[in-house]
Amino acid sequence: VYNPNSVSIVCVKGFSQIGYALVPMIARGAMFGPEQSVIIHMLNIEPKAEPLNGVKMEMIDAAFPLLKGVVATTDVVEACTGVNIAVMVGGFPRKEGMERKDVMSKNVSIYKAQASALEKHAAPDCKVLVVANPTNTNALILKEFAPSFPEKNITCLTRLDHNRALGQISERLNVYVNDVKNVIIWGNHSSTQYPDVNHATVNTCDGPKPVRELIKDDKWLNTDFIKTVQQRGAAIIKARKLSSALSAASSACDHVRDWVVGTPKGTWVSMGVYSDGSYGIPAGLIYSFPVTCENGDWSIVQGLKIDEFSREKMDATAKELVEEKSLAYSCLN
Ligand code: LMR
Repeated sequence: VYNPNSVSIVCVKGFSQIGYALVPMIARGAMFGPEQSVIIHMLNIEPKAEPLNGVKMEMIDAAFPLLKGVVATTDVVEACTGVNIAVMVGGFPRKEGMERKDVMSKNVSIYKAQASALEKHAAPDCKVLVVANPTNTNALILKEFAPSFPEKNITCLTRLDHNRALGQISERLNVYVNDVKNVIIWGNHSSTQYPDVNHATVNTCDGPKPVRELIKDDKWLNTDFIKTVQQRGAAIIKARKLSSALSAASSACDHVRDWVVGTPKGTWVSMGVYSDGSYGIPAGLIYSFPVTCENGDWSIVQGLKIDEFSREKMDATAKELVEEKSLAYSCLN
């Protein structure tokens, strides 16, 4: 898509756990494919300049054929200048026992500086992926401080949850994860998200079959499966004593790749995007929907049948996002 020029990507917090996992993936082609050269900008705060420079040294030492340049900086303007893609990894991390709301006020101020630098200095049509929690609401805050950014260009990561849902189904059925398609994550990247399998299928030698028909256990699908996906972030924090990093980085690559390159025909993915009121979700929230992507644009998949069970769960996660939004705006003031 971007050939023949290199894509510049700013990875905010280049040496954090996610950043450290992400930059080599990008440099190996996981985000833009094996033909596209990249320039990676990594930003961190002043006290972390030295370890950030250490990551830059490693990036050079890895001799990635696609890596045309790497910038390690603590200057937000230098980091944002000319970038085509911004992956906002930086934020105050959630620790064991903390709720996402606890990190809200800390993140509002971090987003303020970065948003205005992006607005002034990024390449025209720069696409933004917010990864740091609370992702959906951080993306709204970013828009608040970068008002000229088109809404279409600001998204947040729920592909991690989408991939977690695919992973649970593939484990349960013992099939390749790539054969599981069209799960949906609705709503917030939080424990109220609704992982929905009502439209999901598995490729079999007799063609695609509905997940519900193959699993034949609605009770598991409607309880344990949903809970496992909703709580996966917390389960990983408990096990690793750190939040997810490699799976977050990998799904960030998936998110940007599908956005830029396009989703395969007949397949959708989940992205946190501005609601236009589709499916009765209040307009102006950043909410995870099923989307398809083409020519660098996403569109919400329309016309899916929503049953009562789903409706309730979609509304509950929307309600949490409305509350988060008002909490964030109170931190802004
Ligand atoms: C995750 O889902 O793994 C991350 O967003 C970490 C978290 O706070 O849940």
